[in-house]
Amino acid sequence: MNFQDNRNVKKFQAVEAERKVRQRTRTIVYVVLAYLCGLVLPLCVVGMPRVSTGRGLDLSKVWEGREIFLKQCADCHGEDGSGVFGPDLTDQFWLHGYTKEEVQETITNGVPGTGMPPWGKTLNSQEIESISEFVLSLSEPSFSTSRA
Ligand code: HEC
Repeated sequence: MNFQDNRNVKKFQAVEAERKVRQRTRTIVYVVLAYLCGLVLPLCVVGMPRVSTGRGLDLSKVWEGREIFLKQCADCHGEDGSGVFGPDLTDQFWLHGYTKEEVQETITNGVPGTGMPPWGKTLNSQEIESISEFVLSLSEPSFSTSRA
């Protein structure tokens, strides 16, 4: 083996060592990325519906309810539900309860002696359910169907 060969071997070894380091670095990056994906993605998938339907709201009903709300309720409660003649429905204060059942009951029977009319004869129970989902979504921070 002459001097020239020896240099070539050294060079080859150096290049080979560098390649191995690069390969190992890439492996570590992949492992870290895979770990992050495994950690973060399930959180997104599991977390998202919980965040956006904090009270078990059904987005399609919310949108359906919004249509009816804009036609029937917006004159008194405002297009964004923040209140005109009727009270603000977007805040955390409820005169007649904030569960879905209570809101449905308020809408169905109205509030006698106030300006809030009963809707039980005008709207069917499915429509009232949708509106109550929409009404509840107004005070749900993660929803922005009307305030967008
Ligand atoms: C003519 C005006 C008017 C219309 C139309 C109207 N509301 Fe009301 N609404 C009121 C008033 C006034 C009150 C407050 C009642 C009270 O003082 O207890 C109220 C109260 C409410 C409440 C109770 C809020 C709370 O704090 O507990 C809900 C829910 C509600 N309205 C939903 C609706 C929905 C849904 C519609 C449409 C289907 C609608 N309202 C249509 C006037 C109206």
